[in-house]
Amino acid sequence: MKIPMVDLTAQYGDIRDEIERGFRAVLDGAQFILGPNVSAFEQETAEYLGCRHAVSCASGTDALHLALVAAGVGTGDEVITSPFTFIATAEAIRYVGATPVFVDIDGETYNLDLDQAEAAITERTRAILPVHLFGQPLDAVACQQLASRHGLVMIEDCAQSFGATWRGRMTGTFGLAGCFSFFPSKNLGAYGDGGLVCTDSDRLAEELRVLRNHGSRERYHHHVIGFNSRLDELQAMVLRTKLPRIDTYNEARRAIAERYTTALAPLAGVVPPRERPGGHHVYHQYTVLLEGDRRAIMAALAAAGSASAVYYPIPLHRQDVFRDAWASVSLPIAESVARRCLSLPIYPELEPGRQQVVIDALQEALGGLG
Ligand SMILES: Cc1ncc(COP(=O)(O)O)c(C=O)c1O
Repeated sequence: MKIPMVDLTAQYGDIRDEIERGFRAVLDGAQFILGPNVSAFEQETAEYLGCRHAVSCASGTDALHLALVAAGVGTGDEVITSPFTFIATAEAIRYVGATPVFVDIDGETYNLDLDQAEAAITERTRAILPVHLFGQPLDAVACQQLASRHGLVMIEDCAQSFGATWRGRMTGTFGLAGCFSFFPSKNLGAYGDGGLVCTDSDRLAEELRVLRNHGSRERYHHHVIGFNSRLDELQAMVLRTKLPRIDTYNEARRAIAERYTTALAPLAGVVPPRERPGGHHVYHQYTVLLEGDRRAIMAALAAAGSASAVYYPIPLHRQDVFRDAWASVSLPIAESVARRCLSLPIYPELEPGRQQVVIDALQEALGGLG
């Protein structure tokens, strides 16, 4: 594809010298696990996010898992979450023996519908786990209020929203914990797996540090059954190199999104994403809703040299692993969005000329103005 969904080589080209110097320094220092880059990255990230603690771990999935364990969510508990997200959100809930309760989404933001979330609360509900999907922040204040009204733990899935804010405050800092992924294609991406939990709770942070390192506070003393889930020094070095640039990367994504929206808004058959007032969207994905034949439109884009992708084709309550338990439940908005959504190439280095190829192909495939 001339225009891929994401191009990590372009970004690497810009920071290559710094990364290579950093790699050499880590190799020379030969301290690969829980060393100085990890500590520094945690401190720098806590400062950037505006929270007391940032505890890194091996992946975004682990961040969710460890946060749920540390928050005491477990067997018999229900956790309200979105059906329109990556499977990891629900996997983490199942890892701790709890049950994900899927409620429908808002058709404009693709995020959890908080009215439906409130209606789904039972005496077993222990937590609410919203996802700031595609980089669009959910109304985190309303979610916080809902959680406190009902005595629920709020844990935010920020895998796709590093740097996004709601009313000027970073996503991840509204709940008891915010969980981030540093998968390479994420807005802040490592060169391998990585994750992080942020929190203002001293107790939770301490628990997370113990859990990620085999339940150990002191070497060879083990207080609880923990996990091996640590960010490594090489990844921390990569992330430290990119962190000071994240706002520039996110602003570049926003400019690309604006160009798409300006071009697509007048067209029939396509609904561009809309940034919600109060939110600062960081466009991990630029995802439109189509009215026409999605497969034909994808084929037309491919013929013009542009990738496109469907995130996500099957909502979680219709996935094989959950299908039986959810057979009698319909979540019509999530189902409709899954049938109609299409994500277009977006990454900070996407040049306007290449983006225009995507826009022209889409305009032609959709057959003109509305
Ligand atoms: C919404 C969401 N949650 C969780 C994850 C899991 O993150 P990771 O791939 O780092 O385990 C991802 C990333 O793929 C994601 O997109």
